Amino acid sequence: MREAVGRQEMRVALRYHRNNRWVHSRPEKESQVQEGKAAESSQSSPAQAARRPRVHPLRIAIFGFGTVGSSVARILIESKPAGLELTHVFNRGVARKRVDWAPASVVWSEDAEAVLASDADVIVELAGGLDPAGAWVRHALESGKSVITANKKLIAYHGIELERLAASKGGHLKYGAAVAGGIPVIPAIEQGLAGDRIQRIEGILNGTCNFILGKMEEGAEYAAVLAQAQQRGYAEADPTEDVGGFDARSKLAILMRLALRVEVDPDEIVPRSITTISAVDFSYARDLGCTIRQIARAEKTGEQVSATVGPMLIDRRSPLAWSRGTENMVILSGHYGGDVVFSGHGAGGHPTAVAVVSDLIALAHGSRRVAIPSSPGKASGEFEVPHYIRFLVNDRPGIVAAITSALAKEQINIRAIVQKPGYPQHALPFVVTVEPCRTSDLRRALASIQNMDCMIEPPLDLQMLE
Ligand SMILES: NC(=O)c1ccc[n+]([C@@H]2O[C@H](COP(=O)([O-])OP(=O)(O)OC[C@H]3O[C@@H](n4cnc5c(N)ncnc54)[C@H](OP(=O)(O)O)[C@@H]3O)[C@@H](O)[C@H]2O)c1
Repeated sequence: MREAVGRQEMRVALRYHRNNRWVHSRPEKESQVQEGKAAESSQSSPAQAARRPRVHPLRIAIFGFGTVGSSVARILIESKPAGLELTHVFNRGVARKRVDWAPASVVWSEDAEAVLASDADVIVELAGGLDPAGAWVRHALESGKSVITANKKLIAYHGIELERLAASKGGHLKYGAAVAGGIPVIPAIEQGLAGDRIQRIEGILNGTCNFILGKMEEGAEYAAVLAQAQQRGYAEADPTEDVGGFDARSKLAILMRLALRVEVDPDEIVPRSITTISAVDFSYARDLGCTIRQIARAEKTGEQVSATVGPMLIDRRSPLAWSRGTENMVILSGHYGGDVVFSGHGAGGHPTAVAVVSDLIALAHGSRRVAIPSSPGKASGEFEVPHYIRFLVNDRPGIVAAITSALAKEQINIRAIVQKPGYPQHALPFVVTVEPCRTSDLRRALASIQNMDCMIEPPLDLQMLE
């Protein structure tokens, strides 16, 4: 009997060794672990024990006490999720960050090296950017700690290398908050949809652009809405990262790796800015039964992968047209399971912190990241879809004939020509929509059209999602 109990204890100890490496490195906690093991061996099977949360809390160090970092601390302190303990906060000039609602036991530090060398089990990186955040994450993983981050840029550019490092050192890297903030798209791909073969991703991945375009849809001008977004803290002083599509393309690259299982260099995805959109485009879009949103989309057909980010016309009946304010939305289309739609708050301190804390809870319960196989690939910007083309011309006879001839030369069929009244002849906007055509064919046609001397500005072409 004693021998049987001993073997059982050994198996339990081994499980603890795999999941709780720190049991051995922090002997002061060992007595509690021993008590836990003794209780398990007498009351439950090793399988039951394995399903239980860990006996000791994970010691958590937050790097970056800003919007998301302070929300993560709030949730940890207020909700007290089982198995998690906030022990350190690192930030530059940390004195101004101290809050009176944190327990006195929390160590506030502006010495990153000291916190990395501390007995914290998990580093929660919420400072953002590639450097020095990347160096902290590497350092933490090198020393066998686990890392949770919401840093899409770091994961988009270095995620694969960092995941390999984590695996080789026995730690974990989780980044459920890096795409679509509080919407659990990444955990859904890793778990609920792992059995499907996802072929297409379409998403509104940047809340700032959605806010701006949503307000423009209601009649506001771009500059005024941008100022409002900056005032409310939705947009940075330099909004290029958001409005230029760079933020969304980092998120798209992460989703492509997990959902389409193809590793692309984010720089290969050429983003298009929403700054080219004006009130007249919303007016024409409305007449066509559409609205305009910044869309990130990628498709995999056989070995061909296409990806793009930019403003697009979307049918008002599409779920993508439903998202309001700073909301995000993602539609994943699976070969077997069809479409799955995710929507909710893609940004903001609390929603994003929920995703971070959920990653921490999963870690505390010993849930490992599902290793989704992926392989390096190239993404082209080539799609075959209908397009909206808006021209701004100094009107004269023969313009439409010249445009149709240039499109016909590339085998592009016109679907409709729409011209609204009320615009001056010397600055006349009108729209041509075309049947599905290849992006490259359209670009060639537009390159010749934009040389016409009547063009006041280059034509604006937008994909139409139907
Ligand atoms: N905010 C969102 O809605 C959201 C949504 C999804 C993902 N994310 C991601 O979450 C991360 C954090 O975003 P956030 O909005 O919380 O940013 P934030 O409000 O600017 O907070 C960043 C914090 O990190 C500190 N920090 C930055 N660089 C540092 C350095 N070199 N040394 C020491 N401290 C440094 C900042 O200190 P200072 O106060 O001195 O600048 C600040 O307290 C980013 O990766 C972001 O992309 C954010």
